[in-house]
Amino acid sequence: MKQQILTITENVPVTKTVYRMTLTGEDLGQQKAGGFINIRLDGLFLRRPISVYDSAPGSLTILYKVVGRGTERMSGMKPGETLDVLTGLGNGYDLSKAGETPLLLGGGVGIPPLYLLAKQLTAAGKTVHAVLGFNTAEEVFGEEAFKALGCAVTVATADGSYGVKGFVTDALPEAYSYFYTCGPEPMLRAVYRAAKSSGQFSFEERMGCGFGACMGCSCKTITGYKRICREGPVLEKEEILWDD
Ligand SMILES: Cc1cc2nc3c(=O)[nH]c(=O)nc-3n(C[C@H](O)[C@H](O)[C@H](O)COP(=O)(O)OP(=O)(O)OC[C@H]3O[C@@H](n4cnc5c(N)ncnc54)[C@H](O)[C@@H]3O)c2cc1C
Ligand code: FES
Repeated sequence: MKQQILTITENVPVTKTVYRMTLTGEDLGQQKAGGFINIRLDGLFLRRPISVYDSAPGSLTILYKVVGRGTERMSGMKPGETLDVLTGLGNGYDLSKAGETPLLLGGGVGIPPLYLLAKQLTAAGKTVHAVLGFNTAEEVFGEEAFKALGCAVTVATADGSYGVKGFVTDALPEAYSYFYTCGPEPMLRAVYRAAKSSGQFSFEERMGCGFGACMGCSCKTITGYKRICREGPVLEKEEILWDD
């Protein structure tokens, strides 16, 4: 983990509520797929965690949805302004288990961490299928970006206004070697039930203090409770014990 001041070089809307922000810094290293950063915003006690969407030495990009005070404030920031950011957080996805035909399942703002993962998997010669889920057509983003990496892409919308009607679990391909998923918890539970292979889950919804003190982010596993902010956000399918 590293605390650094990063400079905004881009902050643009990609849908009505989702923004893409690129940050640069001389000491910024390559970030892990499935890792996250924690952003301090003036006047807000808790930092706001956001997954790494894309990364290269010297720059990183995030996609964030405006849902409250912190993200609202971020959406008004301009290139040249700076942010106090903790980088290098989170265990990230384990790419060594992907097999040859991994499946990526993302819901809404669970999609961003899957982009860097897709980039690394396609660079390693894997045949990647991404299923991206949204509520409705006007929320759709990322389809072209994943296609540009060489992924097969299926989009599902709950109201059927774009792509397959239904949830990501209604658009699963017949065969895949392994899966990686990130999205709202009801989606993750549905993926857990529907998936035919082993896989990894990234949890974005559970976070309190963000630094290991409150246990507000804990998830029950076969080896005891794990803190999403410290031991996560990625957990393996076989270790998760879902609360009823
Ligand atoms: C590891 C991790 C990675 C994340 N990655 C991303 C990302 O890539 N892109 C992105 O848009 N968001 C991501 N989130 C969620 C993001 O952290 C929250 O949306 C953000 O902190 C909200 O801040 P706020 O001040 O705007 O909203 P607040 O004022 O804090 O809250 C406004 C509303 O949003 C709800 N909310 C707050 N936090 C979350 C959350 N974690 N999940 C769902 N609802 C929440 C609150 O219950 C409230 O209703 C991630 C969260 C975690 C834990
Ligand atoms: S958010 Fe407080 S321990 Fe993880």
